[in-house]
Amino acid sequence: MKIITSAEDMQKTVLALKRAGKRIGLVPTMGFLHEGHLSLVKLARQQADVVVLSIFVNPTQFGPNEDFSRYPRNFERDRTLCEAAGVDIVFTPTPEAMYPAGYSVYVEENALSKGLCGASRPGHFRGVLTVVAKLFNLTLPDVVVFGQKDAQQARLIQQMARDLNFSITIVLAPIIREADGLAMSSRNTYLSPAERREALGLQQALKTARRLYREGERDARRIIAAMQAGIEQIPSARVDYIAVVDLDMLQPVPQLNTPVLVALAVYIGKTRLIDNLTLPDDSLSNLPE
Ligand code: PAJ
Repeated sequence: MKIITSAEDMQKTVLALKRAGKRIGLVPTMGFLHEGHLSLVKLARQQADVVVLSIFVNPTQFGPNEDFSRYPRNFERDRTLCEAAGVDIVFTPTPEAMYPAGYSVYVEENALSKGLCGASRPGHFRGVLTVVAKLFNLTLPDVVVFGQKDAQQARLIQQMARDLNFSITIVLAPIIREADGLAMSSRNTYLSPAERREALGLQQALKTARRLYREGERDARRIIAAMQAGIEQIPSARVDYIAVVDLDMLQPVPQLNTPVLVALAVYIGKTRLIDNLTLPDDSLSNLPE
């Protein structure tokens, strides 16, 4: 397994591989890897000859009062996990390599990025799209894998690939969960044992939505209200948003008569967690029965 830190080396390496006819698969991450990330590697492996996993805690996608400086980092652990998962190249650029002095070009999306996480994290998706566009140019992937865990992010990247003509196949990977159903996240490490138990409230709310849907409920307001009522029972929880949106434009819908995304962001103590469910086809959500 190769470890590359320089942007120039990354581009040179991948250009040589492409000249040799290799298909490149990319898995962009911010590190502190878990089974969710490794499931993306597995999917990339199936579709590419060479798998590049990038680890970069991207400063431009964090707000001034967010967790950039305390975001968990452990390169040795990540390296071991990558090696075991069959990653070929780990790309870990420095912030200075990605954003040299005088850096001034950003990728902005003006519709899908406005709601959900975009509303509570202004500038977040501008940072995400910018770094992902740069990673695309540095690793020249044929295929790239993103997780449904970050459903809005994945939808935005599809839109960016379409609108900016990146000729890259984008693969969506199902949400990987802990045994008790909590969606895996590097941020779960912030939770105290009590908060860790209360964090199950997110998937319980999604289960409520799915149960009501299966019982025939199609009114978004009633579904959201039932989810909200459940979360309100949890002492350390504060709802950031609960939304039912269409899969294409991510706009709130009043009725669940067409395919929808049920998404929520909830603070458990100081930790902001997200989770989601698609209906009627909930296969990417992996929500336990
Ligand atoms: P990060 O949060 O490290 O996630 C990297 C990738 O792993 C994303 O595509 C995310 O959706 C996926 N992922 C995270 N948890 C998952 C889970 N439980 N199941 C399945 N997939 C999961 O998302 C980012 O980093 C950054 O925004 C990035 C795209 C790297 C740009 O900086």
